[in-house]
Amino acid sequence: MRREILLNTAGLWSGYGGKPVLQGVDMEVREGEIVAVIGRNGVGKSTLMKSLIGLLPTDRGSVVFRGTAVDALPAHRRARLGIGYVPQGRDVFPRLSVLENLSVGEAISGDRAPRERLEQIFSYFPILAERRAQRAGTMSGGQQQQLAIGRVLMGAPALILLDELSEGIQPNIVQDIARIMVELNRTTGVTIVFVEQNIDMIRAMAQRAYVMDKGRITAEIAPGALDDRDAVRRYLAV
Ligand SMILES: Nc1ncnc2c1ncn2[C@@H]1O[C@H](COP(=O)(O)OP(=O)(O)O)[C@@H](O)[C@H]1O
Ligand SMILES: [Mg+2]
Repeated sequence: MRREILLNTAGLWSGYGGKPVLQGVDMEVREGEIVAVIGRNGVGKSTLMKSLIGLLPTDRGSVVFRGTAVDALPAHRRARLGIGYVPQGRDVFPRLSVLENLSVGEAISGDRAPRERLEQIFSYFPILAERRAQRAGTMSGGQQQQLAIGRVLMGAPALILLDELSEGIQPNIVQDIARIMVELNRTTGVTIVFVEQNIDMIRAMAQRAYVMDKGRITAEIAPGALDDRDAVRRYLAV
């Protein structure tokens, strides 16, 4: 049985200050999928993520979540509908503790997380439990990235958008995080759309991939085709 469409865009245009970056993006993500968005630097991957969460307005076309156009909704309203977003770069509050950062995630989602949710996040990311009282800014890049994911999970999202999680993180930690995300998807059914340039992470996580170039989706890599390492590398080539 084909699963329901969770998120799709139709002819999506957006950009900065009237200068278009996305120029007609069509994508479709079904419930429970893990989909990668790949492509060279500057093609518009982060712009796409910002447009999906609502940090950039839709200039033309639409973003549809669970069958409803969300273009008119600001980011915090989309977050409450069940879209979680981990932006590119370190995005934790460095002077707040791990627990305080997680509380911010709860506040963003607009509901009070049950106690079990925190315990569940700690079970996926044990380092966060160990360091719950530590200031986030004193942790390693990989630990901060896990915290950024944990913060989004506090809102129990149906869809998680991840923008280049692997950037500046040690390869072994990248593999750990990829494994945890796959496990999370398998056990909770959460849908994941992730921007990535790290070929190991793409291959460890993605079920299929969209290839972007110059603000458009120019190809789709089907399940199975990701096994062809050289083909994937060609799509990432600078
Ligand atoms: N805040 C911004 N203001 C103006 N232009 C931007 C901004 N962010 C990105 N851009 C431009 O938009 C284009 C796409 O950028 P981006 O979406 O970040 O690419 P990617 O994530 O694929 O590397 C680039 O030409 C970039 O210079
Ligand atoms: Mg980017």
